[in-house]
Amino acid sequence: MLNKIIKMFKEKDGFLSGEEMSKRLGITRAAVWKKIVALREKGYEIEGSTAKGYRLLKTPEFSVEELRTLIRGDIGREIIFFESIGSTNTAALELAEKGAPHGTVVIADRQTKGKGRLGRTWVSPPKKNIYMSVILRPELEPKDATLLTIMTAVSCAKGVMKSTGLKAEIKWPNDLMISNKKLGGILTEMKSDPDGIVFAVIGIGINVNSKTKKDFPPDIQGIATSIKEELGKIQSRTFIIAEILKELEHWYKVLLTEGRKPLFDEWKRLSSTLGRKVRVTAGDNVFTGVAEDIDKGGMLILRLPSGMLKKISSGDVTMLR
Ligand code: BTN
Repeated sequence: MLNKIIKMFKEKDGFLSGEEMSKRLGITRAAVWKKIVALREKGYEIEGSTAKGYRLLKTPEFSVEELRTLIRGDIGREIIFFESIGSTNTAALELAEKGAPHGTVVIADRQTKGKGRLGRTWVSPPKKNIYMSVILRPELEPKDATLLTIMTAVSCAKGVMKSTGLKAEIKWPNDLMISNKKLGGILTEMKSDPDGIVFAVIGIGINVNSKTKKDFPPDIQGIATSIKEELGKIQSRTFIIAEILKELEHWYKVLLTEGRKPLFDEWKRLSSTLGRKVRVTAGDNVFTGVAEDIDKGGMLILRLPSGMLKKISSGDVTMLR
């Protein structure tokens, strides 16, 4: 119902009369008033005039109701929102286990146990950044799960660029970067059986309105950035998420209908890693070389100083020049 009211406000520039709203929504005028109060509590600024009705003045920085009005496809048709949760990935894994459909999206304002790659913690200050997990039920073999991560990295980079105008890049394996600093990351988890992937949960963390100095621990401060930090002003998480989900919808269809090639081509176009001299830390091993390519499974192909090629499946990349 709140989504419908937001849609009605957006379709009209001026005032909407209480009578028109009650007719179109099929509820009493007293019930319309209650909905207006509910929207105001969620941060919507709505002017009320006894003679003219209601007029929307300002929408909050993030609103799940507004996000729902912006979704057209399968991905995001079902959005589950938590003010606070341990980890959206863990919540999405549980929901998927209970049968949540393909495209279900879990979003939180805050995570108390945010998970990063390689068992790390994902710092998740409240009401600032994007913490979201998408449940997918693709017909893929577990060895091809990397395709989902690659698809998500491409979708996030493009979604951020379209919604903010900033130039986002991808650092192998799936870090979102702006000006060589980390803007976000992706964590894919899944359940599979002998027939293939049963479901995958793709976790996306993007720093939107956090201040790196205040919101992040010292070890991350120099290497992380946020959209606010780059643009100098607060950005709406609603519109960034909507663009990312739109891109995911598109690239998922591309993957299913045209296979991996267009996806890999786009990933390579957005990559900040390929062609660069890098140092890769993979567990206890450190390799230095030129990042030449990624293979069909998303492994990094490194040209070592000896001229030999080395494939690396996971690790941390530092750009050397
Ligand atoms: C990385 O280490 O680069 C991946 C970070 C992924 C963080 C996101 S935030 C939403 C989702 N829930 C989690 O607990 N982790 C992912």
